Amino acid sequence: MPDARAIRHVTFRIFRARRREDGRLQTRYVTYEVPVGPRTTVLEALHYIRRHHAPDLVYRYSCHHASCGTCGVRVNGRERLACITPVTGMGAVVTVEPLAHLPLLADLAVDMRAFYQRYPSEMPMVRRVPLEEGNWRTSRFTRFENCIECGLCLSACPVVGSDPYYLGPAGLAAAWRLVEEPRGVSLARVRAWVDHEHGCWRCHTAMECSAVCPSAVFPGEAIMSLRGWVLQQPVPAMQQAVATPPMAGPRLRSGLRAWLPGLSRGLGMWAFALNRLTALGLVLYLFLHLWTLRLLTRGAAAWDAFIQKAKTPPFLVLDGLLLLAVLFHGLNGLRLALVASGRGQHHHRKALWVVVALTLLVWLLGMGDLVRRVLLGG
Ligand code: SF4
Ligand code: FES
Repeated sequence: MPDARAIRHVTFRIFRARRREDGRLQTRYVTYEVPVGPRTTVLEALHYIRRHHAPDLVYRYSCHHASCGTCGVRVNGRERLACITPVTGMGAVVTVEPLAHLPLLADLAVDMRAFYQRYPSEMPMVRRVPLEEGNWRTSRFTRFENCIECGLCLSACPVVGSDPYYLGPAGLAAAWRLVEEPRGVSLARVRAWVDHEHGCWRCHTAMECSAVCPSAVFPGEAIMSLRGWVLQQPVPAMQQAVATPPMAGPRLRSGLRAWLPGLSRGLGMWAFALNRLTALGLVLYLFLHLWTLRLLTRGAAAWDAFIQKAKTPPFLVLDGLLLLAVLFHGLNGLRLALVASGRGQHHHRKALWVVVALTLLVWLLGMGDLVRRVLLGG
């Protein structure tokens, strides 16, 4: 709670939602002034709002120390545990919203059943089989045991937004935990759980899950390791898809609406969005290429006319942009292949910068020469 040392007032913009009698959700943002001290957390600010402004504000919490995983919200667009997120440094206006991709119950509380549905019910995380003597190699898998099931990764994942059947980062990290140390669990069953179109192959390596995870579980890296493991397994006679349809709910955004707002989040989202956008550039470039091929069949006059058009600034700009997109998409494909192979997943951000630098370098070398030749007739 802010005490007498409180030195400033911060405006909290809180997402409020109530279900009307006709069953539809009525949503709005309401602002509240909260006095904060240097150590005030977002959760304490929510307590203040409930005590002094809005006694009906709905939100979850329990332990107050990042152990129970219940206080997950989005603060200024980023998934965080409210209990350990300091208000200091968040700016003069702090926006607090519920986690995305989970059905909304009221205000900041989401229905976590859609999160737990992603774990097969017959595969409990607490298992009774005793450890064999000498098999206690915790260092490799301890971090997967640390998952506090807060759902931040599910909310941050752009793929969950566009494929509601996707198992998601936490479930797949748990599956990798089982592969690392099965303790009697059937690995064939684990494989059936993850090896399908809504399983580990659906990940687009945005790696936002790892960026927001408060427990250093690194679910994105676990998914990449899981892929490597699946590839080493014999091809099964029949795939058994076990994706569980998530609960329907008004917070289940889909398609573009699901991942465009996430661009403010960080590098992973930008890489994800750029990859999709440049794929569009690739398609357009192919159309352009087919169109020019058609000219070949129309004789020399048509070809000469095209050459004249191709030298005009609008055509050069369009061509340059499309080439930039194709270059980035191709080089980023190499990065994704490297990360997805299970190697280099810890360096995926650095690798993205290398891809961007290489793209610009090759593009400037190629286009600079082209522009000089066309404009100066060199
Ligand atoms: S993997 Fe991390 S972000 Fe995801 S539920 Fe577990 S602790 Fe939360
Ligand atoms: S209140 Fe338990 S993790 Fe935040």
